[in-house]
Amino acid sequence: MLLELKDIRKTFGGVTALRSGNLSVKPGEVHLLMGENGAGKSTLMKIVAGMYQPDGGEIRWNGQPVQFANPAQAASAGIAMVHQESLLFPHLTVAENIYLGRTGSGPFVSRRQMLDNARKLIEDQRFPLQADWLVSKLSPAGKQMVEICRAVSLGSSLLIFDEPTSSLSESETREVFRIVKNLRDRGMGVIYITHRLEELRTVGDHVTVLRDGATVHSSPLAELDTQGLIRHMVGREVAALYSRTPVPPGEPLLVIENLCRKPLLQNINLTVRAGEIVGMAGLVGAGRTELCRAIFGVDQRDSGSIAVCGQPVKASEPREAVQSGVALITEDRQKTGLATQLSIACNVTMANLDSISSYGTLDLKREKTMTSGYQEKLRIKMNAPTQLAGRLSGGNQQKVVISKWLATGAKVFLFDEPTRGIDVGAKVEVFQVMDELARNGAAILMVSSELPEIQQVADRIVVMRQGRISGELPGGASQEDIMRLAVFETESGRMPGEDEGTIQ
Ligand SMILES: Nc1ncnc2c1ncn2[C@@H]1O[C@H](COP(=O)(O)OP(=O)(O)OP(=O)(O)O)[C@@H](O)[C@H]1O
Ligand SMILES: [Mg+2]
Repeated sequence: MLLELKDIRKTFGGVTALRSGNLSVKPGEVHLLMGENGAGKSTLMKIVAGMYQPDGGEIRWNGQPVQFANPAQAASAGIAMVHQESLLFPHLTVAENIYLGRTGSGPFVSRRQMLDNARKLIEDQRFPLQADWLVSKLSPAGKQMVEICRAVSLGSSLLIFDEPTSSLSESETREVFRIVKNLRDRGMGVIYITHRLEELRTVGDHVTVLRDGATVHSSPLAELDTQGLIRHMVGREVAALYSRTPVPPGEPLLVIENLCRKPLLQNINLTVRAGEIVGMAGLVGAGRTELCRAIFGVDQRDSGSIAVCGQPVKASEPREAVQSGVALITEDRQKTGLATQLSIACNVTMANLDSISSYGTLDLKREKTMTSGYQEKLRIKMNAPTQLAGRLSGGNQQKVVISKWLATGAKVFLFDEPTRGIDVGAKVEVFQVMDELARNGAAILMVSSELPEIQQVADRIVVMRQGRISGELPGGASQEDIMRLAVFETESGRMPGEDEGTIQ
């Protein structure tokens, strides 16, 4: 065995993150690590990578018991982790990031030599990168490739990916799969965390499932079907699948006319009525997020009009959008959704302080009740409302962001990739919340790259392509029909972006 974890335990303050983490990885194996939000996956891997110290249990590396006091020790033993939130230095080049901390001494006499080595490494991996590009200019996939190059250059024999594809496009995801298979074929061990059930069988050999901090299952992937996997993850049959209860659409609550914003958005016309859930499909880069931002007033529009609940919105700033009743649940919770340094309760109530204050003072009891309400509704795994939001697991952070906007009592909800990083069980809960909002008269626009989700949830499907609305389909339309509207077929028959250096 390359890596063996036995009975690993870890608590943070009063919170038990791991009760009994067990996992064994062989060389040349892609090992999937699955489990609900807050199950302890990231914590277990951070222990392996030397970022946290376990409270108990044993780590064996190549058969020997080890303890890593810090990430550098784990790295020199041959363990590297590719984090979802990139830890690279944006203002340095690709080559500098790959060889960070190893220049000026050791193997490199000159900068030129460093560049040459980086070039060779990138070529070996067949990555569409240049050694002298600035990392700040790279897409999320490009940044991951730099981290992979760094891991390979360090001679790592185990590479850990924590949800690598949750913010990637289709073609970037395929690229990550190719890389993972390539690493495995060269005899490296790979541990791979994901919530996307449909991608598992493409990459995985073995699967380990964590539930509430303990390993509850481990087997070759072929021995476990998807239902069995879900059962292990959530500890119950997930029979209660989401079902939409459509209501007759009411008044138009969001009306967009001829909206333009250079360089991308062109003549957008869209109406969403009370009670409707409109799904918005399209390839990454088609302008869906840009449209949400323009509606919310984060980005200025060049021309066109937006009306919410019958009132025109100048949308010069998000505050105006919020006051007129718009909520935006962003796709990037770390950057734009969550105040990681504030408590969970502050995050939930911050967009709606009026409702919990009287005469200028906050009613903390009310704040707490409100937070507990959402905790129950969305099953947020947390210790206390006073806990720092940044300390929650990735998926639970997303649920806090959703709660924040639910608490505003908005009438128009823009959900941009709402289920990103959320586990199978919680997805159903998020959809149920949308259904309830719609039944209570809200208008919902949901952007999603997961076609099955759009098919399941939307009453109507609007498709964007290259900054325009390319068509509209009824809810439940086939994936082929949606893709046809989403993809601009070039003469060569290739999908755009496939061959044109989407990395930089
Ligand atoms: N630094 C920390 N301080 C306090 N609690 C923490 C810390 N890191 C993790 N936790 C808690 O430990 C538990 C497990 O978290 P972890 O991030 O490992 O979950 P996860 O399985 O990766 O979930 P997700 O799928 O949502 O990313 C959670 O309840 C989380 O709140
Ligand atoms: Mg995690």
